[in-house]
Amino acid sequence: MSSTAYQLRGGIAVITLDNPPVNGLGYDLRNAIVAGLDAAQLDAAVQAVILIGAGRAFSGGADIREFGTARVLAQPDLNTVIRIIEAATKPVIAAIGGVAMGGGLELALGCHFRVAVAGALIALPEVKLGILPGAGGTQRLPRLLGVETALNMIVSGTAVPSEQLQGTPLFDAFIDGDLLEGALAFANKVVAEKRPLRRVRDIKIDYPNHEAFFQFARNTVAAAAKNLPAPGKCVDAVAAAATKPFDEGAKVEREAFAWLVATPESRALRHAFFGERACSKILDVPDATPTRKVERVAVIGAGTMGGGISMVFLNAGIPVVMLEMKQEALDRGIATIRKNYESSMQKGKLKPEQLESRMGLLSGTLSYDDLAGADLVIEAVFEEMGVKETVFKRLDAVMKAGALLASNTSTLDVNKIAGCTRRPQDVIGMHFFSPANVMKLLEVVRGAATAKDVLATVMQLAKKIKKTAVVSGVCDGFIGNRMIEHYSRVAGFLVEEGASPQQVDRALEKWGMAMGPFRMGDLTGNDISWAIRKRRYAEKSEMKFSKIADRLCEQGRYGQKTGRGWYLYQAGRRDPIPDPEVEQLIADYRKELCITPRKISDAEIVERCIFALVNEAARLLEEGIAQRASDVDMVYLAGYGFPAHRGGPLLYADEVGLYNVKRAMQGFAVASADKFWEPAPLLARLAAEDKTFN
Ligand SMILES: NC(=O)c1ccc[n+]([C@@H]2O[C@H](COP(=O)([O-])OP(=O)(O)OC[C@H]3O[C@@H](n4cnc5c(N)ncnc54)[C@H](O)[C@@H]3O)[C@@H](O)[C@H]2O)c1
Repeated sequence: MSSTAYQLRGGIAVITLDNPPVNGLGYDLRNAIVAGLDAAQLDAAVQAVILIGAGRAFSGGADIREFGTARVLAQPDLNTVIRIIEAATKPVIAAIGGVAMGGGLELALGCHFRVAVAGALIALPEVKLGILPGAGGTQRLPRLLGVETALNMIVSGTAVPSEQLQGTPLFDAFIDGDLLEGALAFANKVVAEKRPLRRVRDIKIDYPNHEAFFQFARNTVAAAAKNLPAPGKCVDAVAAAATKPFDEGAKVEREAFAWLVATPESRALRHAFFGERACSKILDVPDATPTRKVERVAVIGAGTMGGGISMVFLNAGIPVVMLEMKQEALDRGIATIRKNYESSMQKGKLKPEQLESRMGLLSGTLSYDDLAGADLVIEAVFEEMGVKETVFKRLDAVMKAGALLASNTSTLDVNKIAGCTRRPQDVIGMHFFSPANVMKLLEVVRGAATAKDVLATVMQLAKKIKKTAVVSGVCDGFIGNRMIEHYSRVAGFLVEEGASPQQVDRALEKWGMAMGPFRMGDLTGNDISWAIRKRRYAEKSEMKFSKIADRLCEQGRYGQKTGRGWYLYQAGRRDPIPDPEVEQLIADYRKELCITPRKISDAEIVERCIFALVNEAARLLEEGIAQRASDVDMVYLAGYGFPAHRGGPLLYADEVGLYNVKRAMQGFAVASADKFWEPAPLLARLAAEDKTFN
């Protein structure tokens, strides 16, 4: 249970907020603060009060463990706590160190004075959850920092280091050395000087030309956050702070908060926030599971993925040894990594000394003997079982006992790979996405024999290398690619029936996808999905595909890498240019199959493609390949450019209503005679019970 410590230091009462890890302002803590304030008010010996945080924060804001419970809004809520502070007749001083964010900063803004040390992070990050500060933050921050600085912080949610705000009226004193001692000295000074109590709400904002500024801000925000309503509401609330009396401004803030909380966009962002935390937990692997140390990493293969994966570890300060078959390939791989860092340096994102220190952590070898010191090896060689088998047999022979053996395979059976070794418990899939040093997603593939401590180690490591790790069971394509195959398949049929690749891409991009399926195919290489389809024709003849993509590949139209795919590409450019040859190829194909093209609406395109993701996701959940619905959503948000404001395919399905989703699928099943469209049993069951995935 959270609480506060109450202590008298001379005539100063010190209330220490103590609710680890970040002194979240939960119900118990709010009550304890009020109890401390009341005690101080009643005690004639107390002349001033200090609020300070225990541990590494003043306060990180709301206690997220209470989200969704009645305790969040139970009285005293944060607005009440602030009203009590403002009504106090003795000065209340916030002593800020570590973190003052969200409600934590609003609490400090409610105090009469604020002191801080350098290195504290100051933010109102609510906009990142699709809401805005709801306890006066949008009204008080502009009164201290000025309209422009405050608006920037509120609209972006970005944390600003306290030293950058030193000298502004936000802080009444900046403290060198111990925060509490400095705050006590400040409190005694306030008392000695009989300084009047200053309520931030009473400060008048004088901002001439506000109309032009707020119009500019509205236009900028509308362009930058077109699918998200919260930034616009932040502008409205700050505009109210600048133009209305405090209480009226606070009403605008309160109404905007209540409206935003109920929007699907905010629900989506909050879902992702919790989804990110949930996906790091594995149902049968307790948090306390011991982990193995990973201080040195080996990477097999210096190609596209091997290079990107190596950079991920170098960026985290972990030494990497890369192994290749031939010196030229190794040299090429290392040169590519240097070139990538050089290009970051030219863009000002990396300092020259950082480049050198990262390259200094990288070594290359042609000999397996040089891998013996590594704690983790990640294989990223050609996608062929025979090659993987040879590599894992060698690794089994040379790696030290207890080393983790990981494969970056996209499609192969991790259990079979593990079976090539005498230590299947140490084998795991670490499926990075291209470019590995950029994409956030890491699918962690759990083999039948993978040990729990191996899983726990990889999940912990993922945090260190800043990846969103989602656990997947073993199956063809794991979570992400198994779903995307059906999405692409459906996109192919849409073109066969009458849509153009441009229309399909445009419809899905307008809906929010970062890239439509045909542009994505051209980017990742149409030859890769062609190879998979050939395997399907042989092994899963019941799976239906449009053959237009095969025709393109037969002509060498692999996408950007060959300068032609679904679109044309000029040398060195990535913008897709529609190609009349592709149009002709599609028209000929339709003629051959006696298909009369029909007009297809954008809505149908979106519905069929996105519901294809949903149906396959339901099967993945039922098979236990994915642990929870939000894991599937995280895969799509972190790895496939799914729009953040829609929260992932399954949250979107929940939003549409599973009954409606199921009905639509039944319609597609009749129209297409494709067995895929039979609603997955889990979906059908949830729809019948009027339940949701999340
Ligand atoms: N490219 C992607 O988008 C992507 C995404 C996720 C996973 N993957 C997977 O990553 C793996 C590598 O793919 P890639 O795109 O980097 O391929 P790539 O062809 O760019 O690189 C493979 C590298 O491995 C080297 N190699 C082959 N056999 C070797 C051996 N026996 N010992 C040492 N080195 C060997 C090759 O010389 C080559 O440099 C594959 O399993 C692939 O399925 C690829």
